[in-house]
Amino acid sequence: MEVKKYSSKEALSQSDKVLLEEAIKSREQAYAPYSRFKVGAALVLEDGTIVKGNNQENAAYPSGLCAERVAIFAASANHPQKQISTMAVTCRHSDKPTHVPFTSCGSCRQVMLEYELNQETPIRTLFYGEDGEVWEVASTKLLLPFFFDKTILE
Ligand code: THU
Repeated sequence: MEVKKYSSKEALSQSDKVLLEEAIKSREQAYAPYSRFKVGAALVLEDGTIVKGNNQENAAYPSGLCAERVAIFAASANHPQKQISTMAVTCRHSDKPTHVPFTSCGSCRQVMLEYELNQETPIRTLFYGEDGEVWEVASTKLLLPFFFDKTILE
């Protein structure tokens, strides 16, 4: 995978750092009593609006949703005409420290990719654990080769 690695969040540009800090704040508000794995996402729209999401779990386990999809669906629901520029995601497990970035699950990649294809501009993603490196991926297409392409349904 083509990934640009930053040694720490301090190495990011000011605007990326602000976005990641928003993702960290959102992470801490996650509802993850079952996995104890909190994830926060913050995405910035073309006009600078920041939309946040975090994982929401449920006692009926499959009914829960990942942070990335909570954020991206909120953006599409509330700002349907606005392009997404960058999304920052971060995780923290309450039982063991996460020093390496995690990368989004396949379902989230599939969802992110559909919005990227619809808006016809790349969505850049920043991945972070609770400290250490930040990984940047320039486009969701790089995250999900051989994705399910909606044009087959047309
Ligand atoms: N989770 C996310 O929020 N994003 C991902 O990309 C992977 C997993 C959440 C779902 C669940 O609440 C917890 O992390 C453990 O899987």
